[in-house]
Order: sequence, then structure tokens, then C-alpha cells
Amino acid sequence: MQPIYEGKAKRLWGTDDATTLRMEFKNDATAFNGEKKASFESKGRLNNAISTLIYKYLERSGIPTHFVRQIDETNVEVKRVDILMVEVIIRNVAAGSFLKRTGMEEGRTFSAPIIEFSYKSDELGDPLINDDYIREMSLATPEDLAFLRESALKVNTILSSFFAEVGLKLVDFKLEFGRLVSDPSQIVLADEISPDGCRLWDLKTGEKMDKDRFRRDLGNVMEAYEEVLKRLTARLESN
Ligand code: TMP
Ligand code: ASP
Repeated sequence: MQPIYEGKAKRLWGTDDATTLRMEFKNDATAFNGEKKASFESKGRLNNAISTLIYKYLERSGIPTHFVRQIDETNVEVKRVDILMVEVIIRNVAAGSFLKRTGMEEGRTFSAPIIEFSYKSDELGDPLINDDYIREMSLATPEDLAFLRESALKVNTILSSFFAEVGLKLVDFKLEFGRLVSDPSQIVLADEISPDGCRLWDLKTGEKMDKDRFRRDLGNVMEAYEEVLKRLTARLESN
């Protein structure tokens, strides 16, 4: 059997139902648009567990998502969507590519979240784009874009407090959205939400608990992901 799609960290498989897919989390990690590669034995399992827990929490908080159910350690069932080719990045604290573009120092908390869009194209290296590009490239209508902004800010509010409750600062993160194949008028949150696509700093020590440990060769990459999972699980079990 062949996957219907294979990305850098996931595979998508068809199911008996034309409106759902199986999303498999791989152990592969890449950075800098695929230039740096590695594989971590437990990454698929950890990201699946973290993403599943976050998706369930978001659904309970009223955010429509592609999530259906966890199948096993490395697979979830998701509603089939046509992914919008716009990545939505939310930044609460200066880090990553923001520093390169502005010359600012890492760590400044913004007065309000910054929303950025990038064109989802590995070939072009996911370039930064704006509302006018999105309209002219027909990536989303202005109405869709307004919905993406509003949803991304809601997700930011929900997840910033969720992570703060477990001693983690949600520095920045990337979201993807898709149109349900079963009802194209509906746009839902799709893809994974894990330390691969978020920056998370320990509130007490400032320690990086996300993929920057791999990008910057800080070591203990999976130990950090494991700790994120442990804290989120404990937080949910305490309720
Ligand atoms: P950046 O600072 O490198 O632009 O990244 C911003 C956030 O987006 C960060 O939390 C990591 C995430 N991200 C992805 O999920 N995929 C990507 O390809 C890139 C470049 C960033
Ligand atoms: N996900 C991107 C890549 O693989 C970039 C990153 O996360 O740093 O290459």
C-alpha cells in the first residue's frame, strides 16, 4: 500500500471512508527546509500523544479541527481536508526567523501577538507573504483570511494559558487549516500541534523544550518532548 501523501514528518493514508484519512507520525526530524535531517526513536509516538491531547483540548474549547480519534501510538484518524497553502504563524515572544528579519534580541514579549503568513511551498522555502499576496495568489479569500486570523488568535489564547498552567511559555507556533472534503464551506484546524511546530520555553528556567533543541544542537531533544507530554498529561489528569 502507498501513502496518498508523504511529508517530512508524516504520512497520510487512505481509509475505507472517503471522508477520513489515517495520519501517521514518523520518527524523522528535519530543519532548515529539510537541509538538516535526523531520526529519533520515540518522536512519532511523542508528537502523536502531544498533538492528540492538544487537539482534544481545542475541540473541547470550541475550535473546529480535523481530529477524529487516536488509532494507536503513531496514528490518528482525521477528517479529510484540502489544506490551504497558507501557514499561519503566531508569535508572542521574539524568536527564530523574527530575529533574523528585525535584528532584535531573542526573548522580548510583544505588546500583542504577531500574526504572519507564509506560502506553504518546500520548493520556495515557505516564504513570508501578506494579505495582498494571498488574495492575488488565490490562496484564500479575504473572508477566509479573516477567519484564519480570528481562529489563530483564539487558539493562541487557549493554548497560551494551557501551556502556562504547566510552566511553559508558548513563544510562537505554526498552524495549518484545511477545507473539509465532506463540506468545503467549512475550514478547520489541521496538521499536528507538537513541539515540532511550536516554541516552548520553561517558565522558570527559560530552557527550550521544543525542536530548537534539534535545530541548535542543544541535545536531549526527546527528553524535552517527553517532559512536555508528562506535564500536559498531569494537568489533564488533575481535572
Ligand atoms: P520561525 O521563527 O522559524 O519562522 O518559526 C516560527 C514557528 O513556526 C516556530 O514555532 C516553528 C514553526 N515552524 C514550523 O512549524 N515549520 C516550519 O517550517 C518553520 C520554518 C517554522
Ligand atoms: N519544518 C521545516 C523543515 O523541515 C523547518 C523547521 O521546522 O525548522 O525543514
